[in-house]
Amino acid sequence: MLAGEWTMVNGDGDNRNGVLASRLGSVTSIEGSKVHLALAGQNGRPNVRVTVGNFVRIQAGAADLIGIITTLASGAGGQPGAVASLDLLGEIVLKDGAKSFQRGVACYPAIGDAVDLLPPGDLRVVYQATGSRTATVGALYQDPETPACIKVEDLLTKHFAVLGTTGVGKSSGVAVILDQVLRTRQDVRIFLLDVHNEYASCFGDRASIISPHNLKLPFWLFNLEEIADVIYGGRPAIDEEIEILAEVIPLAKSKYVQYKEASDRQIVKRSIGKSAGYTVDTPVPYMLQDLISLIDERMGRLENRVSRMHYHRLITRIEAIRNDPRYGFMFENANVGGDMMGEIVAHLFRLEPDGRPMTIMQLAGLPMEVIDAVVCVLCRMAFEFGIWSEGAIPLLFVCEEAHRYASADRSIGFTPTRRALSRIAREGRKHGVFLGLVTQRPAELDATIMSQCSTLFAMRMTNDRDQAFLAAAVSDAVNLLSFVPSLGTGEVIAFGEGVPMPARMKFHPLPPERQPRNDISGRTPGSGEMIAGAAFVGAVVERWRGATMSKSGGGDTDLTGLARLAREPGADGNGAALEQVHRRLLRRPLDAAEAPAETGLRAAKALWQQS
Ligand SMILES: Nc1ncnc2c1ncn2[C@@H]1O[C@H](COP(=O)(O)OP(=O)(O)OP(=O)(O)O)[C@@H](O)[C@H]1O
Ligand SMILES: [Mg+2]
Repeated sequence: MLAGEWTMVNGDGDNRNGVLASRLGSVTSIEGSKVHLALAGQNGRPNVRVTVGNFVRIQAGAADLIGIITTLASGAGGQPGAVASLDLLGEIVLKDGAKSFQRGVACYPAIGDAVDLLPPGDLRVVYQATGSRTATVGALYQDPETPACIKVEDLLTKHFAVLGTTGVGKSSGVAVILDQVLRTRQDVRIFLLDVHNEYASCFGDRASIISPHNLKLPFWLFNLEEIADVIYGGRPAIDEEIEILAEVIPLAKSKYVQYKEASDRQIVKRSIGKSAGYTVDTPVPYMLQDLISLIDERMGRLENRVSRMHYHRLITRIEAIRNDPRYGFMFENANVGGDMMGEIVAHLFRLEPDGRPMTIMQLAGLPMEVIDAVVCVLCRMAFEFGIWSEGAIPLLFVCEEAHRYASADRSIGFTPTRRALSRIAREGRKHGVFLGLVTQRPAELDATIMSQCSTLFAMRMTNDRDQAFLAAAVSDAVNLLSFVPSLGTGEVIAFGEGVPMPARMKFHPLPPERQPRNDISGRTPGSGEMIAGAAFVGAVVERWRGATMSKSGGGDTDLTGLARLAREPGADGNGAALEQVHRRLLRRPLDAAEAPAETGLRAAKALWQQS
């Protein structure tokens, strides 16, 4: 069969443009963009097999209008013939001798106009994205031979969301989409928040994986709200203590700068006093030991026991988290190498990609109480990097389980995280920061953030609230929504700007080694692996405990002098010695002239690179 050719099923097909068409019926009534037809057939059965979701072509004078069947009935009110209704979607026009599809119709059909099933060639014309870069993510449900495209540019810059109940293939779909984004846009960096540690194998060596074991996010990068959330473990903070923190953090930052200037003076003459002007949220390093000494100092000056209590409690809280090995990613070696912010940002967002333009940030394994704050810091840094770099490096920030971080219920989750995500949603595109959200609970997702996602991939959803939410979010092809509860695994209805047309499609199948899965699902007892009862449980207990134990086991085997000192600055309680430590720590790797400092920094760098 030739391309664009279609079989003639019954005798009354016409021969328009030299192509035989399968005549479905003719137009009987029109209401706006809704058209009703009488189907050609006998005894209430149409001659051509047709069902909801099929595309049709209406020959309205010189125009070819395209519509989608929405309802079918075998004959209403005693009428003998079958009837159908359809929604008009657009029309096929000839542009420079080639067929092209445009949304919306310039002229409407008239009663009696012929309606045919859309030939596959024309279906391709409808789904062919024109203009910007396109990529294929699957195949059309209508015709598995017709590729389903995304318009990568529009998908990225106007944000997207993947929605669906658990187990319908959201993560697999995200893996397919991101793979295509990586292929078509080499300049884009992707940062994926992998809530269940399931994406590690999906992108091969194109992704750099950051896990709780190699994450380095020094506490000084956290702003006041975020550090307070960490200190109070997500519980409401005590106002008096926050006031103390807000007062001493800028002082600790100034103190740090003074050490740095004092140490730099040996190399470059510089005036002291530039330290002023840091706010509590300025992302510059400070030392926890300084913070504690400053609080301690203030406490010492107080007479009132109740006021002293706040200071005392604050110190206890800070020390408790600093000593908690699960928070090692924030506190261990946080000051080694001095001001490492540039390196940290470059590492997180793959600014020097070295063939790995993507970061998979595994969150499972981080203490529950701290995840919100970590997500908040990462989101905020992604956005602020976009602002201050004027969008020089486009970044796609993908967030799994988005309803956890940007819940519609204001009492759930961490307000600053919602705010950070919502800033990316509202203003991100101006600064080259784009959002991809994945959720199984769209109705629980903040509606304003969701409304900024111009492309929606709706997978199976059975919950009424989620369906109602989707109906409110989708403006075109509302008729397709009725298919949402019955979609199969891997099937999706794509709406919005990132696709040429709203379409029901199936994502490309992923080979087993590229499917998102967490380690545990691959090791279920049924998978054929022999698991010796006691040994298995023993290993589980070991891992369980290991997660809450210090990584170095107290032996400091992987730390040389300087890195060790960084952990316990001023352990000898001697102020001069502390100053010494400060100076040595603050020297940046490039400045390091002294051999001992260099070894220490090399050790610190090696620790960093173990990641
Ligand atoms: N495109 C695909 N290619 C191959 N397998 C798929 C695809 N989509 C879904 N599957 C199958 O469906 C299963 C569930 O998919 P997936 O983990 O992506 O769902 P999910 O919606 O992300 O689930 P959850 O809500 O639990 O995260 C997969 O294990 C896989 O077997
Ligand atoms: Mg998933």
